[in-house]
Amino acid sequence: MQWIRTRAIAVAVALALFVATAGGSSEPTRARRGMVVASDGQAAEVGREVLRAGGSAVDAAVATAFALAVTWPAAGNIGGGGFLVHRGADGSAAAYDFRETAPAAASPEMFLAGGVYDAARHHDSHVAVGVPGTVAGLHRAWIDHGRLPWRRLVEPAVALARDGFVLTHSRAASLAAVLPRMARYPASVAAFSNAGAPYAAGERLRQPELAGTLERIAAEGPDGFYRGRTASLVAQEMAEHGGLITEADLAAYEPRVREPIRGTYRGYEIVSMPPPSSGGITLVQMLNVLEGYDLRAAGYGSAVNVHRIAEAMRRGFADRARHLGDSDFNPAMPVLRLTSKEYAAGLRATIDPDRASRSGPDTFEWPATGNETTHLSVVDSDRNAVALTTTLEQSYGSRIVVPGAGFLLNNEMGDFNAAPGLTTATGLIGTPPNLAEPGKRMLSSMTPTIVAKEGRLFMVTGSPGGRTIINTVLHTILNVVDFGMNVHEAVNAPRFHHQWLPDELRYERHGLSPDTLALLAARGHTLAARASQGAAHAIVLDPEADVLEGGADPRRADAAAAGY
Ligand code: DON
Repeated sequence: MQWIRTRAIAVAVALALFVATAGGSSEPTRARRGMVVASDGQAAEVGREVLRAGGSAVDAAVATAFALAVTWPAAGNIGGGGFLVHRGADGSAAAYDFRETAPAAASPEMFLAGGVYDAARHHDSHVAVGVPGTVAGLHRAWIDHGRLPWRRLVEPAVALARDGFVLTHSRAASLAAVLPRMARYPASVAAFSNAGAPYAAGERLRQPELAGTLERIAAEGPDGFYRGRTASLVAQEMAEHGGLITEADLAAYEPRVREPIRGTYRGYEIVSMPPPSSGGITLVQMLNVLEGYDLRAAGYGSAVNVHRIAEAMRRGFADRARHLGDSDFNPAMPVLRLTSKEYAAGLRATIDPDRASRSGPDTFEWPATGNETTHLSVVDSDRNAVALTTTLEQSYGSRIVVPGAGFLLNNEMGDFNAAPGLTTATGLIGTPPNLAEPGKRMLSSMTPTIVAKEGRLFMVTGSPGGRTIINTVLHTILNVVDFGMNVHEAVNAPRFHHQWLPDELRYERHGLSPDTLALLAARGHTLAARASQGAAHAIVLDPEADVLEGGADPRRADAAAAGY
């Protein structure tokens, strides 16, 4: 509590700064009324203006998400899917699942060609596209919690697409980098280049066809996407290129409202995403294991803590592979057991403080002896909160723009397991719960999470990063709760990741000292440096000053916290 009190005094002095800042200092962005933290400053500002106009946290999240579909095409989307966790100021909570579904023609063996696994089919083809869920899911959350008219939330995105927006250095570089990989798709090249030449920073990107699709969504709601002109353009593109999605698949898409996964950690309440995300269960399982250690005493970044956390990650990810998939297709998933304190105590007992365990394709018992997604966090003046993570799967998804409709399609089918029985030491998983089947949702790692304390909102967090997401969210929570960091420090701090297979402890370059690495190697960890892990955009509510503190992850150059 001491750090909270100290910061409450600092807050009282620093409250003048209510506008967006994007990292740099170790101070968070502060605001009294409401806040949006997102991967792109222009989209965050769209959300902030919705809050200022009296919109709810869901209104602001919906408007920011549509704006990101224009300004952050690598992951913001209408052609993908996502999850939104909502916590009302009254403590009620709901999880909105708008994950893509497998089309009716899907099957567990669909990624095999001549009996052999075909990675391109799985991730890089029209067959890799799942039935998009974003428009239906955002609309469903708005029906339950929206205050402003639907059109008001979509219109800023229509304007950004129609009138264009100026590309920052990082956005222009990202589009230039993906352009060669779009070359097979003429509509994609037309949408994201200047007649085939990459845009330069400072130039304006206009997306007129996307504006037309967004206008149909503004006018008709989900019908503007799942039926009529948009649906027939998608189905035509699929039929012409061997894809599976039909107009019937689109018309049948339904978002789900689910009970969130709940857990506790050192007195904090955790509210997170249930299946078809693995995020909430695996996060709560790892927190339960770690609750048994005095992490604070051992200190941030110490070898003993990195070891404990990595071993908790290893076990969490093995259980994820073994048990988790779409709950609608796996009715016997042991959710309560996996998230129980007793189960975690048993797992903790298998962690040798001096020795790394070994992972292998059949190692589910503990020794008995790539990419872009985008997360945004919102809190409104009533303290309703939204954690929203959406994705196209890889950066720019399938890289297929629907001709005439101007939006990118996901390649989310790549999140289904590769093929029955195909579990490999390099990380392919072939366990049954997450094999492709008609209408099934592919297992996700997206972990939009809300933390409360004594019934009151405390923290909103989430991240991109594929399987690393769950561990990035774990780090942000540990950094605040155990290591006393403010939210800005918590999202800045170096991260590491273990996902069971491959059996390696991946750490952000320069994130662990040579001494720490030597101590971890001596325990038997295989260490691998990586450039960067995740982009956690988080908000913490200072409980004493009742001030919102935003941390926009500096790993995304254009990320910003916009408060008022
Ligand atoms: O749902 C999932 O877990 C993945 N499709 C997310 C992909 C991702 O985060 C890529 N981003 N960096």
